[in-house]
Amino acid sequence: MDTVARVPRHVAIVMDGNGRWAKKRLMPRFFGHKQGVDALVRTVEACADRGIEYLTVFAFSSENWKRPTEEVSGLMSLVLVAVSKYLAKLAGEGVRIRIVGDRSQVSDKVRAAWDEAERTTAGNRRITLSVAFNYGGRWDIVQACQQAIAAGVPAHELDEAKLGSYMAMNFAPDPDLFIRTGGEVRISNFLLWQVAYSELVFSDCLWPEFGTVQLDAALADYASRDRRFGRVNSADVATEAGA
Ligand code: FPP
Repeated sequence: MDTVARVPRHVAIVMDGNGRWAKKRLMPRFFGHKQGVDALVRTVEACADRGIEYLTVFAFSSENWKRPTEEVSGLMSLVLVAVSKYLAKLAGEGVRIRIVGDRSQVSDKVRAAWDEAERTTAGNRRITLSVAFNYGGRWDIVQACQQAIAAGVPAHELDEAKLGSYMAMNFAPDPDLFIRTGGEVRISNFLLWQVAYSELVFSDCLWPEFGTVQLDAALADYASRDRRFGRVNSADVATEAGA
């Protein structure tokens, strides 16, 4: 088997199912998002304990502005609540926080909270938590192209590595493992460029219920995969050569 590493260096998660989780409890959707923050904090800690170096989560997509106004403002206010409740704890645990996405459209308060989270944790190296906020995979590809053009990169010099250097996640290796909770089986415009060779795991678990059991199941699934990156399996080559 050609599997590169049993523990992924980089895990990306679409944290889906908050609304349904709340609805099942006859609670407003915001309650689900609030519990979602707690699930996120548990998951960062569990990933760090397992030696995962990068965790990237989809917290607010470019398309989420189309949700009802009160849900959008609830998610924005949750940023402030989450940063004031958890920043010191995560910083003390060696978590580096980075925000990826278009910050130009968020309020000054939200931008200031994200800036504070990045500044406070900039020296941490145990695990990097990247929060994709006002992020879309297509937005990322377009903004990378815009930056390359603005920098005067000639067309014949623009290859995958060069364009990748302008992408929002240019500081991290591509995700090895992509997890989506909530039962839907799609990428939903998350990290389109970077998931080219990621192993995909879809879980029916609603995000607020995600814990170490579900994480370990996804990691075990990942560890059993044969990652070939477009190559053939080396065992098959050996068999044919010997035949
Ligand atoms: C999708 O569930 C989830 C979101 C759009 C938001 C995810 C946000 C969090 C988990 C909180 C983390 C936030 C911060 C600020 C760090 P959904 O609402 O689409 O669920 P549904 O499919 O059941 O309706």
